[in-house]
Amino acid sequence: MQKTQTYIQSNKERFLEELLELLRIPSVSADPAYANDVRRTATFVADSLKKAGADSVTIHETKGHPIVYGEKILDPSLPTVLVYGHYDVQPADPLELWDSPPFEPVIKKTDLHPQGAIFARGSCDDKGQMFMHVKAFEAMYANDELACNVKFMIEGEEEVGSNNLGTFCRANKEMLNCDMVLISDTSIIANDVPSINTGLRGLSYVEVEVTGPNRDLHSGVYGGGVANPINVLCDMISSMMDENKHITIPGFYDKVAVLSDEERTEMNKAPFNLEEYQKDLGIAVVQGEKGYTTLERTSIRPTLDVNGIWGGYIGEGAKTVLPSKAFAKISMRLVPNQSSDEITEIFQKHFESIAPASVKVVVRPHHGGEPVVTPTDTPEYQAAAKAMLQTFGKAPIPQRGGGSIPIVALFEEVLEVKSVLMGFGLDSDSIHSPNEHYGLFNYYRGIETIPYFYQNYAELKG
Ligand code: BES
Ligand code: MN
Ligand code: MN
Repeated sequence: MQKTQTYIQSNKERFLEELLELLRIPSVSADPAYANDVRRTATFVADSLKKAGADSVTIHETKGHPIVYGEKILDPSLPTVLVYGHYDVQPADPLELWDSPPFEPVIKKTDLHPQGAIFARGSCDDKGQMFMHVKAFEAMYANDELACNVKFMIEGEEEVGSNNLGTFCRANKEMLNCDMVLISDTSIIANDVPSINTGLRGLSYVEVEVTGPNRDLHSGVYGGGVANPINVLCDMISSMMDENKHITIPGFYDKVAVLSDEERTEMNKAPFNLEEYQKDLGIAVVQGEKGYTTLERTSIRPTLDVNGIWGGYIGEGAKTVLPSKAFAKISMRLVPNQSSDEITEIFQKHFESIAPASVKVVVRPHHGGEPVVTPTDTPEYQAAAKAMLQTFGKAPIPQRGGGSIPIVALFEEVLEVKSVLMGFGLDSDSIHSPNEHYGLFNYYRGIETIPYFYQNYAELKG
């Protein structure tokens, strides 16, 4: 292990340069205009795996973007770790809100990252975190200190719902056979407060279309006499939450797992500073479901949020128009034991039922995903917790997160293995937002921690 750690220290500059190169390729999976760049990124990842020493490195075609696979099987009697990550990124828009171009990484210091952070789309989510695994593997393998077999599965469609990964997993069960899945695509509480994610929320995502009159109308000639679909959509949306920020869709909470008072007391012991939280976000006060803390609202409780809303005239100046159509994209974050398909169906029925006779509505379901809770009493969790203790000098706090990685539930179902969510980002790293960044401290701490994980896992699983 000492050799591996020394190797990491003496190759830090190169590890950073290589990540910056990866970050320069705009692998935006949502926009077909970037399809070629997404492919180039897959090739970059495959080449990196090969250079690090992986065998059977292959770029697997799918109906969408390719999946990169590689492995190092040292000895069939050793435990096998499947590393999952994604090389695709969210669109960088709105571009004008970035202080530097999203695909031209720069390093700048911030209050939370006094040693500097890499500013670029994908730096934290997930290229930076995924690449830590490639570099840690390189270091372990080069020094003959790799303690487990390892398989890498790095996909290019996580940010658009991993639509083809399920098919790939089902078709390649044998190849992907493993003892656990290791993922770095989540956050720690702070750089001096390590934590491990023990849960992810599920997701139901729909787009709605509300149609009023058969064409755009003069808002003076017709205004007041004809239902305005934007006004109607706003009414419909606001009716779905009451004054306690409780979602009013009948049946929405029916299957929500209720935590015991002890569990809630325990989870609220995690460090959380409301003033700092509000200050970081530039808000005077938080808001959310009555009776729950911010930590609970963002992890163990389901949500309904409008992610985008449009219609009518949004160009320069004023145009007096009563639009024909209005649209919104709505996400519902789900918790155990809600089911994505069920909630989508409940939403659709409800949305149709509350539509006034003056409009027609269409609900179009997008991707979804199931919530997961990962156990802490497994050798894989214990190995990760010990590894973080070894590098941070503090035992990590288990904490359920609010984001979604839909494929994790699928790993349980198809590969029948549990995942460990050992992420190293900070919630404040602005993933999906302008000026996304990833701390140099976090990048290197991740690379240093991963080898301890393998060593601990080999011992505990033994
Ligand atoms: N890495 C995130 C999920 C995440 C971030 C989990 C921080 C916990 C903490 C992932 O890339 C992501 O953005 N997932 C999407 C879901 C997907 C279906 C688009 C999400 O959560 O919105
Ligand atoms: Mn991610
Ligand atoms: Mn993401």
